[in-house]
Amino acid sequence: NYATRIKVKVEEKVVLFLGFISTRREFIDIRQLYTFNLTFTKMISIDEFESFAQTRLPKYVYEYYRNGADEENTLKENREAFKRLYLRPRMLRNVSQCDLGTTVQGQAINFPIGIAPTAMQCMAHADGEKATARAAAKLGTVMILSTLATTSLEEIARTEPENSTHWFQLYIYKDRKITEEILLRAEKSGFKAVVITVDAPFANFDNNYKGSSSELAKSKSGSGINKYVTTMFDPTISWSDVTWVKNKTSLPVIVKGVLTAEDAVLAQNHGANGIIVSNHGGRQLDGVPASIEVLPEIVKAVGNKCEIYMDGGVRTGTDVLKALALGARAVFVGRPVIWGLACKVIKYRNYN
Ligand SMILES: Cc1cc2nc3c(=O)[nH]c(=O)nc-3n(C[C@H](O)[C@H](O)[C@H](O)COP(=O)(O)O)c2cc1C
Repeated sequence: NYATRIKVKVEEKVVLFLGFISTRREFIDIRQLYTFNLTFTKMISIDEFESFAQTRLPKYVYEYYRNGADEENTLKENREAFKRLYLRPRMLRNVSQCDLGTTVQGQAINFPIGIAPTAMQCMAHADGEKATARAAAKLGTVMILSTLATTSLEEIARTEPENSTHWFQLYIYKDRKITEEILLRAEKSGFKAVVITVDAPFANFDNNYKGSSSELAKSKSGSGINKYVTTMFDPTISWSDVTWVKNKTSLPVIVKGVLTAEDAVLAQNHGANGIIVSNHGGRQLDGVPASIEVLPEIVKAVGNKCEIYMDGGVRTGTDVLKALALGARAVFVGRPVIWGLACKVIKYRNYN
């Protein structure tokens, strides 16, 4: 609008002025801050946020978040498949009253976009998962906390005790006692559902870091411990373990990482209350289809028997619309949240 354009023009002048009068270090910092504000006010698309985040993050951190497995065919497909779908708009439908609100597992959210679990958010911003929890509570949506989070369950519960919908993403450990304890902690901390990720029986760490793995290992960001922790996850898990988790918790259980109608039926038969159609953002098995591509077969197979969500490549409002039209109750986003965190530069973390 007009006022914003005037503000941006004034800020542009300030930047030019500061750039002109000084080459001293503190002024350069102020110039960077103004440049950030200028860029920030103009950013609209997720791609713009990603480009800006790339300038803020060390290369190896950016690549860890961005990368997909192997040749990244599935990573690319997640977005391309949305572009191949076209809308059939109908006109004259009285759209004066629009309500984006819905429910997930009986919990009300203000719009059908939730936050997918992503590991190690404190590498993107010092506040990491706590900042994400604050944003989710402010906007009124659901946040899934990763098992590989850089913030504890209890801290997240304390960050936004009111009005929050937190779900906990679980990797099942070889040591079932530890798994049970984590489930108990999630319940005690007010988490409202457990999300079992089933598409990562082996962590794809080196693949996701690609050329940057040695740099990441050298940093103090905790990645070493995460790599170690993933060796404790149980690669023997099978469908009966979904029932095992169901018996260990009173929370709804959601299975994340289903890509076929057959597995969707199995998930449902083993007691899943929800399914997230997902290929882990193209980070696990390269060559599997885009999530949006397989959503219809899963919706058809499961029907109304449990709630179906999807993630992978959702970047625009029309992507959300397409997923909902194909039967998803809500969608989740992974990387876009990380780009948002990285753009919040004021408390940017010093890594090394
Ligand atoms: C950096 C990164 C870390 C992730 N960590 C986890 C994780 O710890 N647990 C999990 O279930 N999924 C994890 N995922 C997968 C996401 O939950 C989600 O499926 C994926 O990011 C969705 O695709 P999008 O990034 O295109 O939105 C991760 C994804 C990224 C990009």
